[in-house]
Amino acid sequence: MCGIVGYCGKRNASEIIYKGLKQLEYRGYDSAGIAVVSDGTVSAVKKQGRVANIEAEAKALRGNVGIGHTRWATHGKPSDENAHPHSSGKFTLVHNGIIENYDELKARYLCGEKFSSDTDSEVIVKLLDKFYNGDILATVKKVTDMLKGSYALVIICADFDWLVVTKRANPAIIGYGEDGNFAASDAPALAGYCKEITVLQDGDFALLTADGVSIFDCNLQGVIRERLINLAEPASLELGDCPYYMLKEIREVPASVERTYLAYVSVESRIKRILKDVKRVIVTGCGTAYNSGLIAKRYIECFASIPAEAEIAGEFRYKNPIITGDTIVIAVSQSGETADTVEAAKLARSMGGKVIAVTNAPYSELTRQADAVVPVEAGSEICVAATKSYTGQITALYLLANTIAGINSTEAVRRLSVMPELCNKMLECKGIDAIADMCARSSGVYFLGRDIDYAVALEGSLKLKEVSYVPSEGYPAGELKHGTLALMDIKAVAVVIITNEQLAGKSENAVEQVLSRRGKVAVISNVDGIEKRLQGRAEVIKIPECDKYLSPLLTAVAVQLLAYKTALLLERDPDKPRNLAKSVTVE
Ligand code: G6P
Repeated sequence: MCGIVGYCGKRNASEIIYKGLKQLEYRGYDSAGIAVVSDGTVSAVKKQGRVANIEAEAKALRGNVGIGHTRWATHGKPSDENAHPHSSGKFTLVHNGIIENYDELKARYLCGEKFSSDTDSEVIVKLLDKFYNGDILATVKKVTDMLKGSYALVIICADFDWLVVTKRANPAIIGYGEDGNFAASDAPALAGYCKEITVLQDGDFALLTADGVSIFDCNLQGVIRERLINLAEPASLELGDCPYYMLKEIREVPASVERTYLAYVSVESRIKRILKDVKRVIVTGCGTAYNSGLIAKRYIECFASIPAEAEIAGEFRYKNPIITGDTIVIAVSQSGETADTVEAAKLARSMGGKVIAVTNAPYSELTRQADAVVPVEAGSEICVAATKSYTGQITALYLLANTIAGINSTEAVRRLSVMPELCNKMLECKGIDAIADMCARSSGVYFLGRDIDYAVALEGSLKLKEVSYVPSEGYPAGELKHGTLALMDIKAVAVVIITNEQLAGKSENAVEQVLSRRGKVAVISNVDGIEKRLQGRAEVIKIPECDKYLSPLLTAVAVQLLAYKTALLLERDPDKPRNLAKSVTVE
């Protein structure tokens, strides 16, 4: 949520910043802006809407120091006025986060000041201007010490050729380029410019000039922070021959599965040590990551016979969770940044539990809060809707559940090793277009399933509603008759996932219930004879035979393609659904 980029070097800043913002647009696309310093003057452009809206004016900006922002609106509606950067006097800044006490600070220190936006962020720049005493770092510290909430800030001043970066509870990285230094919310903004990055810690201050970077801790003492390899590759950010990242990333599902199981061996022994004496497991996450946690719960209970729960991270934190020394909390997050998930991990550790992070982001805050990390090797995921990271998470959680059950990964990897090829077959599967057409014309789509298929049904529903805006629900097939059936009529569509041979008969009852209420039905299944039984009455997507616990890797591809194709039929942009952002770093 909100992407920030800063540059200080020998090149023209706005061009570099513009490209960086394009790479960070998945963090928010309500407005965009860039400001540069040149000869003691700050020039800026900012506009509501996508980053592309500022392209022409950004090209005209000249200066070697600059900052940029792409916004996901929290305080203040999306508008030109509320777009960042915000300025006051000599200072201009971009902000990612939420300042909870901005009203209080306004009333206390900024009475009579004229504000040009409704944002909490403008308060920060006004305070910098008010308290500036010639010592920039001391001033930034004084002001940030007053702030309650979360922030990553990049600040410029008309008088100087430098940037100041600081953060608390929102991500900020520094990048070391050949002809300048960079600041950003996330590594993709620096792909192709910086081979090395430093991840700032909460309370750090970094002073960037064209020639160097100095980092100070929260007491303004100089510190050395590790330089890490920037794993974001420019090539991985290219669309190639795909019209959208969503399609590109669904096509990368097989590679995500394969890379994730190949990477597991490097962490297995550490995981085994952490798992010693585990008696209970809680899997937590938000959105798609929570949905993969639901599958993990089933894996852990089936393979290890250990009680396991799946909890939405934002709920887990506020329900007085029972955590003891023998509880393992598995925190699942593509970005490793989601505020609720990171805070849930912190809480679990503070209560004596052990935390295993399952994440696609090796340098993220979540990895710092965890006792061990299981890597998801999905690669950069740009589309706001998670696809290849979901299947990567399922792969990682399958391996982890096997380890919890005391099963060596060799056997689990052997079972997984056929899955990339089967996922590839799913990418070619016929019949999705017809179902997408049904969904696009429907009043609502109900994804139904039992057991593990129900977990995928929830993800199918989430995917469809977020990218197509078609109202959708995921429901246990057996519960249909207890309420949701009332919604079935000629305009309703049920997508029923049936991969469990033993439960197939019961799930087919749900199909008949929908058909008898004149609803339309699509079935995603590997069960023998189902096509024949439903011939002429329902659309059937046949998935290949596979290990029964691994079918979510295949049904996931089907529901992801369905969501994508439905979005296209309705002329939605699947990569940037309205109102959403990929990484939600506020609570
Ligand atoms: C946002 C995204 C979802 C994602 C969720 C959790 O809501 O739009 O696609 O599943 O955050 O993100 P995480 O990075 O923690 O997996």
